[in-house]
Amino acid sequence: MKGESGGDGFGAAVLAGLAARPRRIPCRHLYDAEGSALFERITELDEYYLSRCEAGLLARHGGEVAALVGTGARVVEFGAGSMRKTRLLLDALTAPAAYVPVDVCRDALVLAARRLAADHPGLAVTPLVADFTHPLTLPPAPGDDPALAFFPGSTIGNLSPSQARDFLHRVARLTGRRGWLLVGVDLVKEPAVIEAAYDDRHGVTAMFLRNLLARANRELGADFDLDGFDHTARWNGREGRVEIHLVANRSQTAMVAGEPFRFRRGDAIHVEDCDKYSVPQFQWLARQGGFAPAAHWIDPQGLFSLHMLAVDDRRR
Ligand code: AVI
Repeated sequence: MKGESGGDGFGAAVLAGLAARPRRIPCRHLYDAEGSALFERITELDEYYLSRCEAGLLARHGGEVAALVGTGARVVEFGAGSMRKTRLLLDALTAPAAYVPVDVCRDALVLAARRLAADHPGLAVTPLVADFTHPLTLPPAPGDDPALAFFPGSTIGNLSPSQARDFLHRVARLTGRRGWLLVGVDLVKEPAVIEAAYDDRHGVTAMFLRNLLARANRELGADFDLDGFDHTARWNGREGRVEIHLVANRSQTAMVAGEPFRFRRGDAIHVEDCDKYSVPQFQWLARQGGFAPAAHWIDPQGLFSLHMLAVDDRRR
């Protein structure tokens, strides 16, 4: 099939997702090169408080993280992206030995890893192209350095609670007996603040979402009219999450890889959920995933949390 792009199953996901009811295309497909660049722009928006708050927490509490982990850690980051926050963490740690960034977007990963390695001589940087939502194997590590998994940005909120629990179990296994996980988690709060973060006034988030259709046009020979779809971000208080859809604003038919897909006005493609947690809710989830909460920090405005979790030896 035309455009089974980069081996990440995008074509199959679009065809299956548009044929399914409700329609759904998983959010991991948002991150091709264009999508990754748009996401970087999102992290700089006024409304998108998450990145700002988390960077502040890392800068303020990195020393406490370092004291818990000890010297010579091997840092493994899931969904490494631009590695901007990684730099804050690596600067706080005491003589980190190695860094393994894991990401699906090969080109962006290799470039960011090369830049980071140039700024950290003596740090062994080994990028790993992989989808962290599936089991993966880390490159072999010499010695018995403590492993610190790093999962910033509240990306854990893009997994359902049961996927998040399975992910935590896999991380606990990967990091081993003396393993740690430092994870950023967006907090439940006033719905208007959350909805604005996912529907910014400059329309960057809308472009990020529509890029999924643009990507189908580029890679699968599809003919989506991007103006025919609106992006919506609605807070679901019962589930504690923002639900993000692309919604057809008129009747239309789009061709994808030679197949017609009909939309009536109002038909939605579900793309992403962003789950939000209170501190006790997240600590409960962490325990379900094989970790014991060791410390957590919240920014002064009470918007975002950073959790340090230790692999719970008794549960393994
Ligand atoms: C990558 N992830 C943590 C973002 C979030 O906030 O859930 C993705 C995002 N989607 C729209 N805006 C940002």
